[in-house]
Amino acid sequence: MDSLLNFSGQVAMITGAASGFGRLLSQGLAARGCNLVISDINREELDKTVSSLQLGENQVISMLCDVSEEDQVKAMVDAAMEKFGRLDIGVNNAGIAHALTPLHKIDQGIMDKQMAVNVNGVLYGMKYQIEAMLKQGSGHILNLSSMAGIGGAPKGAAYAAAKHAVVGLTRTAAVEYAKKGIRANAICPFYSPTNILAVDGFDSPENQQRLAQGSPMRRLGAPQEIVNTMILILSPGNSYMSGQTIAIDGAVSAW
Ligand SMILES: NC(=O)c1ccc[n+]([C@@H]2O[C@H](COP(=O)([O-])OP(=O)(O)OC[C@H]3O[C@@H](n4cnc5c(N)ncnc54)[C@H](O)[C@@H]3O)[C@@H](O)[C@H]2O)c1
Repeated sequence: MDSLLNFSGQVAMITGAASGFGRLLSQGLAARGCNLVISDINREELDKTVSSLQLGENQVISMLCDVSEEDQVKAMVDAAMEKFGRLDIGVNNAGIAHALTPLHKIDQGIMDKQMAVNVNGVLYGMKYQIEAMLKQGSGHILNLSSMAGIGGAPKGAAYAAAKHAVVGLTRTAAVEYAKKGIRANAICPFYSPTNILAVDGFDSPENQQRLAQGSPMRRLGAPQEIVNTMILILSPGNSYMSGQTIAIDGAVSAW
């Protein structure tokens, strides 16, 4: 295997691994030799991810973890350290959308949920991942922001606020821990048809077609395309990139 895509001996933690990007990334890293600690709130679908992996039983831990619960996130890192003794990659991927809502109709419930899962979930992941990575003097954190993390998202204000916060956490960690050998980057995908689009306002083929028309390529990114870029970013050869928010967007942000 090309060394740029060889993750043998590495240990990656991935939240939200029962679906979408998290499942595909688990499969992609496993196929390239990476040991995994993966989690989700959906046990049944998480088990399907585990069965799809090209990994031996002793190379993967799967567990229930609601990322909005700090102790559950800590338990993932603890499990990685206990079994593998290290954590090289932390992917804070679990996330939720909200139904399209004009900003003046956003209520506390929508905002609180976005903050709990999309912001606190990432913060808790980073917090314990960094603690583990400090012990070994190396590590790479990849957070899931969004195009809504680097620009406005009409009718997605709470999601956009949360994803902007992810950018703030990522950049801060990159600067704060650079000297300690820890890097942090975020990706900012345009819409991609995973289960997250199964919310009111995004779920019909007509709506997805309309979203596609907002892209210079006139199409949405396939989930596998987004995950291929994640694997490239996580490549052992990509060792000088840190603090970046990488748009994977078919040129939307270039418009
Ligand atoms: N698909 C897109 O269009 C798109 C675009 C930009 C960013 N993103 C981001 O990518 C990430 C992955 O999304 P996806 O598209 O694969 O969606 P998805 O819905 O397919 O997967 C998200 C996973 O997160 C899990 N999850 C939800 N709440 C959780 C919680 N509290 N704790 C733990 N797990 C939880 C879900 O059960 C699900 O398995 C999210 O952070 C999302 O905001 C997605």
